[in-house]
This record gives sequence, C-alpha cells and structure tokens, in this order.
Amino acid sequence: TPLSLIRNFSIIAHIDHGKSTLADRLIQACGALTQREMTNQVLDNMDLERERGITIKAQTVRLTYPAKDGKTYILNLMDTPGHVDFAYEVSRSLAACEGSLLVVDASQGVEAQTLANVYQAIDANHEIVPVLNKVDLPAADCERVKAQIEEVVGIDAEDAVEVSAKTGLNIEAVLEALVTRLPPPKGDAEAPLKALLVDSWYDPYLGVITLVRVKEGRLKKGMRIRMMSTGVVHNVDQVGVFAPRLTPMDELGPGEIGYINAAIKTVADCNVGDTLTDDRRPADMPLAGFKPSVPVVWCGLYPIVADDFEKLRDSLAKLRLNDASFHYEAETSAALGFGFRCGFLGLLHLEIIQERLSREFNLDLIATAPSVVYRLWRTNGAMEELHNPADMPDGSLIERIEEPWIKATIMVPDEYLGAVLTLCTERRGIQQDLTYVGNRAMAVYRLPLNEVVFDFYDRLKSVSRGYASFDYQMDTYEESELVRISILVNQEPVDALSFIAHRSAAETRGRAICAKLKELIPRQLFKIAIQASIGSRIIARETLGAMSKDVTAKCYGGDISRKRKLLDKQKEGKKRMRQFGKVEIPQSAFLAALKMD
Ligand code: GTP
Repeated sequence: TPLSLIRNFSIIAHIDHGKSTLADRLIQACGALTQREMTNQVLDNMDLERERGITIKAQTVRLTYPAKDGKTYILNLMDTPGHVDFAYEVSRSLAACEGSLLVVDASQGVEAQTLANVYQAIDANHEIVPVLNKVDLPAADCERVKAQIEEVVGIDAEDAVEVSAKTGLNIEAVLEALVTRLPPPKGDAEAPLKALLVDSWYDPYLGVITLVRVKEGRLKKGMRIRMMSTGVVHNVDQVGVFAPRLTPMDELGPGEIGYINAAIKTVADCNVGDTLTDDRRPADMPLAGFKPSVPVVWCGLYPIVADDFEKLRDSLAKLRLNDASFHYEAETSAALGFGFRCGFLGLLHLEIIQERLSREFNLDLIATAPSVVYRLWRTNGAMEELHNPADMPDGSLIERIEEPWIKATIMVPDEYLGAVLTLCTERRGIQQDLTYVGNRAMAVYRLPLNEVVFDFYDRLKSVSRGYASFDYQMDTYEESELVRISILVNQEPVDALSFIAHRSAAETRGRAICAKLKELIPRQLFKIAIQASIGSRIIARETLGAMSKDVTAKCYGGDISRKRKLLDKQKEGKKRMRQFGKVEIPQSAFLAALKMD
C-alpha cells in the first residue's frame, strides 16, 4: 500500500466518553465485521473489560475505507485506555500513530483525562481531530464544549465532528476527517528495517504475538529479525494484520501496523519499545522507544496453596509480557510463605492484575497492603528505596524518610467543589491553583501519593456523586514523619497487614483497621485480641468474642442436605483462609482491611 493511502490513528478520551463505542462504529462502517460478528464492543475483548466497561489493553484494528475522493484507504485504529492508571498504554499507542481522534462527551465537556491524554498526543506530535460524541443526549451542548476545548486544551475546535456513536449519526464524517485531516505516515521502503515493538502478548495457540509498527524498510515472512536492545535473533514465521482477527500477509511496509509471530519462547526477549531490524542488513540506530514505566504502588501476592507458587511464577511472566508496566520479583513473608512483590501503576491496575490472575490463570491469591515507594536514609548515610513495610528498619537506624508527592488535577462541578477541597485537605493536600472552566472548577493540588493510593479515587467519586475527574503526575520526594503500624492478631504480628502511614494518621487508621478486622475475621472458639502498634506501643485494640462450636446447630430439624451444604460451604471457606498462630484470617480481609470507608 502506498504511504499516501495509509492513516494511523489513536482514539483518546476521558473514561466513558464513548471511545470504544465509536471504535465499534468505525469498524462496522468499514464492514470489517458482519452484524453477527459485532458482539458488544469488539475491541474490549477481555471479559474483565466487558464487565467493567473499561478498556485496559490498547487494541488495534486495520480497516479499509473507500473515501469520497474515490481512493481506498487503510486506516489503522489503536484504541487506548482512558483510566489514569493506564497512561503508559496510551503513550505506546500514540508512538505508533500520526494522529488522534480526541473524543469529548458533548454533555460532559473536557475532563481531567481528556487533558492528560491530549497533552500526551501533542507531545507525540500528533495531528488532533476533535470529535464531540453523544450529541443525541438532550444535555449535549456542542458550542460550549467547543469553546472549552479551545480554551483549556488550546486546539482549534471549530471543525470538530459532531457525532453520536450510539445512534451512528455522522460516523462517515469521522472517516472523512481521518483521511483528509491526518497526515500519512513517512518512511522509506528500501531502507534497512526499523520496526517499533509496541506490545506483545501470549496466545495459547500461537505463543508470543508481537504488535509492531514498521517505520522503515519491509518486514517479511521468513526474514531473520534482530531485537536491537538485546541482539537476540528470530525467524519470522508469520506476518499479518488485525482485521480485526489475525490475518496473515506476505509483508508489512513502512507506515503499517501489524503483528509477527516468531516462535519467541522466552517472554523476556520481547521488550516493549525495542526496535526490530533485519539481521542481514541491520539499521545503525534504534528508534526512540518509550520512557520506561515506573511502578508507584507495590504489594505482595502470595498463593493460598503453597503448591501454586510455580504456577504463579509462570502466570506473572505471561502477564508481564502482556503488560510492560507491571513489575514483579520473588519475596518471602513470615506469615505467607513464598510469593512475589509486585509493582503497579496504581490501585486499579493492581485490582485488574489480581482479577486476571484469578480468572485467566485460576489462582487463589492473597494480596498484602499496597505501599508506595519511600526513600529511606539510614544514619550511616545510605539511601534505599522502601516499598515493603516489612523491610522498614528499627527507628534508631533511620535518619529520615521521604515520601512521593503528586501533582493532581481535579475537575468538578461547582456544587461539589467544597466537598472535594475538604477531601484534599484531609489527605494533607496543598492547593496550587483553582480556576474555572465554564461552571466547572479545576483545582490543582499537591498531595502525598500515600494518601491517594488506597481509596482517594473512590472517595472523590463518592463526594462528587461521580462528577469529579482526576488525573495526576508524580512530582517530588519530600521528608515526612512516617511510622510503621503493625497489626497483631492474638498477639501474633501479621506481617502482611503492616503498613506505613503519616504519624498524624496512624492512630485513626490503626483503629479503623482493627475495627474492620473485627468484622471480617470469623469468630473463633476462643476470644482474640486485634491490636495495632507502633514499635512496642499499642495504639488501638479490639476484642473478638468467642463463638459456639457447631455451625449447623442453628439448622435444627432434620434437613440433612441443608446441613451438608453448610458444611461444604465452611470447607470451601477454609481453603481461602490463612492460619495465623491459632487464628484463621479470610483472604478477603486483607485488601478489605485497607480499603477504608
Ligand atoms: P473506556 O473504554 O472505559 O475508557 O470508556 P469508553 O470511552 O470506551 O466509553 P464507552 O464506549 O464504553 O462508552 C461509555 C458509555 O457511554 C456506554 O454506556 C455507552 O453506551 C455510552 N455512549 C457511547 N456513545 C454514546 C452516544 O453517542 N450517545 C449516548 N447517549 N451514549 C453513548
């Protein structure tokens, strides 16, 4: 395909503004799938994505569009996730494209991630076509939103395409805008091969599949390719495109987006952001690649059944291949045995990985309390990064601890501003700026990340009835008065539940966790104390009373099947418990205990 007939684009938007729905419409309009094949939201093909209605992995589709100028164009669409935790996926999709559709909900207007994503697109030198979606809604106000885009985002919105992805209104105009307003890709087909490794994942039938964007040269079936960062060489077994199903081709030329399958066995060989080149005629310089992602939240993941450890190791390796922003390393815990310390981009990312491990890999896991990365300076002058509360040394060895701060942008309708400001203040936030965009306030705050990771996003949604939007960037590290709070159940410390907090919040949080655990731990045959301590000082205590022995006692009468069911249920429950000294703690208690409400 000549370059002039190719357009590569991403769709960027705030969460729920209709990106995936629009993508489905574009696919449909180009006839890539028959009506029957169009299940709800083709691109959100992970079960988890369908259920939660959010996009996690960026997806790719190649479309064929006969335009009004009489020529037939190849349109490569890359869907991107909107949630703040998945910004890294966004940056990768953007690097593979020349332009973006900026989707804004015409009834909502510009939100925090609209801004964050559009700035990333501008950084990637994208041509941007604004699309106002949901114009079928009575609350849609295109003129206001256009003015907002111009004022806040700073791009021309006069020619924004007004659509309804739901009814299909004006979808053709979006396709025309792609063809006429986005630039074609550039690249020399005769130059040595340079292809950007955008993503890779594990397919149970084909093995490792690698998503690539060819920048220069040709990528052919049967070719020997070299990964420029590692020097590893592979034979290309298959080259193809996503149409949207995997469709083999003979070769991919410059400007094209597709996949290769190269019998790559070791997942470690596929570094996202790497450059692929021809082994016989290599390029001299690799492409710019991506900024490496830095995990900001860590927690331990442990198999409930110790025998699952190897399976967990294997599953993590496969997930990592699919998700370059996820990190892990082996660790052991006194309470939980062998497991892994895992790093995530945020709490939603953590939850998603945990759920994928449970659903796709059938693993029962315990997650320890999430922690941010602290900088700990020892009295001997050494600095270390600390993300496991269990590793915090004795207070006498610590000179100072620094914690990460973020710069957060929150957009919220005026009537909820008060509640949002109160929340930020409660979380030690410092206001940097407060401006208005129409009747929406835009507050910029500096906040300690520690105060944000656990439940800030949930709280923000609840105090604003779902209207506030939030985005953040890492800012600086600052010295802080931080302490480790240990949780003791029946006098035994549960290392997996210890956490680090600001001294001013230690007591409240310790008390809340003890109270929560009292609810979550089933009564045992004896009385147990649940305590929180800083060093040897107890700061909170709850007592859980003893229970009577026979759970079936309350089923008097002779319904034996009901009794059996109850006993089975109890057995099932046991599997999900973890023994601490004489006390069993259910798995759900671990994450729930740290999700304060
Ligand atoms: P993420 O994938 O989670 O980032 O969200 P998204 O931006 O892809 O949003 P999605 O396409 O899932 O749409 C969000 C909601 O808006 C869904 O309930 C859609 O049915 C609805 N929606 C999308 N487009 C329109 C539209 O044009 N009109 C109306 N009324 N609703 C729409």
